[in-house]
Amino acid sequence: MLLVRIRNNGNKIPAVGLGTWQSGEENDTVYRAVKTAIADGYRHIDTAMMYGNEAEVGRGIRDGLKESNLKREDIFVTTKLATIHARPSLVPRAFQDSLDKLDIGYIDLYMMHWPVAMNPATGQLVPLRPDGTRDIDEELKGKFEDTWAAMEKLLDTGKVKNIGVANFSVPNLERLLKTAKVVPAVNQVELHPYLPQTKLLEYCASKGIHNSAYSPLGSTQSTLFQDKTLAEIAKAHGKSIAQILISWGVTRTSVLPKSVNPERIAANIDTVNLTEDEIQRINDISKSTTQRFVRPNWGIPVFDEDFE
Ligand code: A2P
Repeated sequence: MLLVRIRNNGNKIPAVGLGTWQSGEENDTVYRAVKTAIADGYRHIDTAMMYGNEAEVGRGIRDGLKESNLKREDIFVTTKLATIHARPSLVPRAFQDSLDKLDIGYIDLYMMHWPVAMNPATGQLVPLRPDGTRDIDEELKGKFEDTWAAMEKLLDTGKVKNIGVANFSVPNLERLLKTAKVVPAVNQVELHPYLPQTKLLEYCASKGIHNSAYSPLGSTQSTLFQDKTLAEIAKAHGKSIAQILISWGVTRTSVLPKSVNPERIAANIDTVNLTEDEIQRINDISKSTTQRFVRPNWGIPVFDEDFE
């Protein structure tokens, strides 16, 4: 598996990883998906407290490594701080809980899942004022800069190798970088030809922040599979549209396709080299079609276009 260097800390991250959002826990589904992925050559597994599957993912990783004769260091594992734990005081405990559930010794990448803090007791969003700030008491408890500072301290424990963020827009990254002592290693965002995130990628590159793409296939409501340009390029290579999406994705970021289906798990790491012309044709798709498939219904601005 090809490794990509994270420029601001020199560590490496695999180019393709297995996403596990909405993979379920029933009947060992995600456990088996993780084991299959490891046997097929995946070296990055991405989970989150909010997916509710860390224990099963961890069991899949431990058994998958054993069955493939691999060591812990051979695999890169990401998990994420839930919005209900996005408070400085809650960070150490939330991290330890994730680590205990995964039971894999250490975490390769721990991310702030959203630039958003929910009330820990109610699971509801802390309301924003019209100017975008939060109620002052809640702000002090839930400001993402302070949450980030608590995440920075986790690095001293040696139990996490990289810290990062997810779903951060350029304005939110700019805000974070004003106070951050450690620049996020990674910003994980939705990314595919209908949402190529070009400006965000340019900004992150200028800060040495690596980007990972979630929902590279457009998640469960995808219309990418009906796209004519993608279908043409897929036909030319004798590959599926999913394989073309992932092959294009790795030209921009590391990519985290989710599947629980053994054939699709295997197919999704079988990427092809696209020509410059094909890459350009896929880059151009967003000139006529744009779509964000994953949009939490929280009623607050999270993404860039909401700021414009
Ligand atoms: P399944 O898990 O049954 O394979 P994303 O990675 O963008 O979140 O997309 C995940 C969705 O795409 C899931 O519904 C997944 O279903 C489906 N999927 C994953 N790999 C493929 C593939 N190679 N071809 C078609 N659909 C796929």
